[in-house]
Amino acid sequence: MTNSETLPTAQMPPARIADNKAAEKQKAAFGSHPTRYAHVVGWGMALPQKLLTNSDLARMVDTTDEWIVSRTGIRQRYVADEKESTATLATQAASNALEMAGIAPSEVDLIIVATATPEHLFPATACLVQDALGCENAGAFDLLAACTGFIYGITLGSQMIRSGANKTVLVIGAETLSRIVNWEDRATCVLFGDGAGAFVLQASDQPGGVLTSFLRSDGSGGEALSVPAGGSKLKTSYDTLRDNLHAIQMNGREVFRFATRVMASAVKTVVDEAGLTLDDIQLVVPHQANTRIIESAAEKLKIPENKFVVTLDKYGNTSSASIPIAICEAFTQGRIKPKDKLVLVGFGGGLTWGATLLEWGTATPKEQTRWNKTQRNARKFLSRLRSFSKRILRMLESAIWGRSAPSGEQPPRTK
Ligand code: ACO
Repeated sequence: MTNSETLPTAQMPPARIADNKAAEKQKAAFGSHPTRYAHVVGWGMALPQKLLTNSDLARMVDTTDEWIVSRTGIRQRYVADEKESTATLATQAASNALEMAGIAPSEVDLIIVATATPEHLFPATACLVQDALGCENAGAFDLLAACTGFIYGITLGSQMIRSGANKTVLVIGAETLSRIVNWEDRATCVLFGDGAGAFVLQASDQPGGVLTSFLRSDGSGGEALSVPAGGSKLKTSYDTLRDNLHAIQMNGREVFRFATRVMASAVKTVVDEAGLTLDDIQLVVPHQANTRIIESAAEKLKIPENKFVVTLDKYGNTSSASIPIAICEAFTQGRIKPKDKLVLVGFGGGLTWGATLLEWGTATPKEQTRWNKTQRNARKFLSRLRSFSKRILRMLESAIWGRSAPSGEQPPRTK
């Protein structure tokens, strides 16, 4: 669909108040641009191999399975080994999402990786995913909004589609929190897990997909949840290492109070903005931090708890990956049907919080035939080959040109 095409409003079913309201909002934002919708057409997740149960943790720090389950709801989590990292998990989740959608990596226009545990400060993890998948036509960047990252990512990705700038966007939430946890601090090490989840968003002229979003932040509460060192304020030093300032520092009670305060209002906001009521929502997918926080939101909203997806018993708090992982799980369990309205709601460091209301589409996982698998393996091989040849070319270029720039111009000399 090009920017000059506009869907006649008459084609929209009149009863769909949410779609009309969302369309009005879009018209106000983009003037005469066409009515494009950002649908979720693929989803996938990835977990590390290693399972760490509460009993395992009880052998490492002074804690018990009973304490962890009663205070948080967590029973186990997965942690990355030395061969696994945020980029490998993100790549696997994204590859699964593309595979189920039947979309080739070359069709992807943009990759957003929401993460608080990037592979490096730079290059961005999203660029490593781009290279590993062979998304040769994609822009790529990382986004840091801690556990609200996936909500921020899906909001940005869907707006890139709705504005007409992009057609296919990969939004990934990926974390290896085990790398930034102080494994001697029982107050935090029992909470977190590693994993990744990904959505493929694609443009469509059919109403649906991401309908409304709401994003907020409050930097005054940043100290409640932080990794103080390793940035420009506190560079890595012997002191920062000795004082464990590269690990997560958390005021659990403060985060708890903040989360219970903002979750219900964020859900209400996106539902109101879409012109719907809470009765129209089939499923709420909250950030998976603590069952008590989820129960409190359910109580405030007067939504039965069985409408909430809870997976933290199996995976712990996987930060920006927790919402897409929960959605993958809910879909596999048959809890999500076409046309269902889902509210995704998150909160986390920053402080940040937000919610997204989306209408699930009709996409179903493509059958994985032997032919599909062969194509997938061939694509993997080709993207590795392409990446390898580019590296060789760069080496040759350096060998041929030495220190001079190809144009013959030299960088300015310093005296
Ligand atoms: N095992 C046993 N005892 C423990 C443990 C543990 N793992 N951790 C703490 N305790 C002890 C404390 O030392 C304290 O003992 P004391 O009373 O003798 O001093 C006691 O348990 C109570 O500690 P609190 O911190 O007050 O316990 P609380 O009931 O608040 O539960 C928790 C702690 C689970 C962290 C809770 O505050 C919480 O869930 N907060 C929200 C945290 C959160 O969601 N973080 C992530 C959100 S953002 C993101 O996802 C990045």
